[in-house]
Amino acid sequence: MLRSLLSRLRPLKRSLLVPWRARGGEAKIAVKDVLHRYQNDVEALKNVSINVHPGEFVCLLGPSGCGKSTLLYALAGHVFPSGGQISIDGKPVRGPSPERILMFQEPALFPWLTVKQNLKFALGSKLSRRDCETKATEYLRLVELDGFERALPHQLSGGMRMRASLARALAMDPAVLLMDEPFGALDAQTRGQMHRLLQQIWVNSRKTVVFVTHDVREALVLADRVVVMAGRPGRVLQDLEVRLPRPRDPDDNQLVEMSRQIREAIRSAKAATAPRPGSEAAAPLEEELHERETRVAAGNVPAGAAGPVGAGG
Ligand SMILES: Nc1ncnc2c1ncn2[C@@H]1O[C@H](COP(=O)(O)OP(=O)(O)OP(=O)(O)O)[C@@H](O)[C@H]1O
Ligand SMILES: [Mg+2]
Repeated sequence: MLRSLLSRLRPLKRSLLVPWRARGGEAKIAVKDVLHRYQNDVEALKNVSINVHPGEFVCLLGPSGCGKSTLLYALAGHVFPSGGQISIDGKPVRGPSPERILMFQEPALFPWLTVKQNLKFALGSKLSRRDCETKATEYLRLVELDGFERALPHQLSGGMRMRASLARALAMDPAVLLMDEPFGALDAQTRGQMHRLLQQIWVNSRKTVVFVTHDVREALVLADRVVVMAGRPGRVLQDLEVRLPRPRDPDDNQLVEMSRQIREAIRSAKAATAPRPGSEAAAPLEEELHERETRVAAGNVPAGAAGPVGAGG
């Protein structure tokens, strides 16, 4: 009786992970048919098209060497794609801009400046001395570093250095935040804290964020959309909308189930594009993501460490 009732209810359950559908309005970031071949002839990206709307949090998810960083650096204006177009607010990207801040796994702070001086240095050209001071204090409080303003970077833990780096990026008030596995070098517990902090900050600021990761659960905790990529050449396999309410917990049953669905989607996509006999074997994408995710969750390996597939960037 109960079982038949449940089976009737099940179809009514709304899917929380659905293919992303383009919405109206101008895209903040428009990537159209982008391809990139490095000088050594590696085809890092092929026919990549993604539109990111203002205020979206998009995660690029994929195995090592699939072109995530190449795409992110192209958005930042540090890599010029061999083909296709990238525009931000309708204008082609021609180089780096303070409107697009790129954050890496290593927090790039000046070691001889205190935490607050690092922020003030970044803000210096934009604001008066007094406004710099106020803004630096405000953003250090936002990332819960008040009390550590006078510390030098080497006197902080890895997580604190990353928070200082995040505070600096946010204080500069960029329109777009580009993050390349920023929490990859942190231990599992600190990474969880950073996820909670970033979710909280993003909900309040609604910045447009493109965040690169190997970790399926990290992508599901943070993103509105997960763009799953595969390598050789780097391309988009799936573009999925995550409809889980925030704040999200990586151990939530629904999120764990969604992570299983993503790996399943990757497996199906891979089967549909199986390599021709005699050609190079396809990257063990789903297996690598699963294995990496498990090892990262257990705190055994930094998420950004080079994996068995492809060459790292
Ligand atoms: N400067 C470069 N010159 C030549 N080839 C490069 C260069 N940078 C990256 N590549 C190649 O391009 C491909 C994509 O690299 P990319 O760094 O974008 O991958 P990724 O998805 O970010 O990998 P990871 O997760 O390991 O950081 C790889 O095969 C890599 O070897
Ligand atoms: Mg990379």
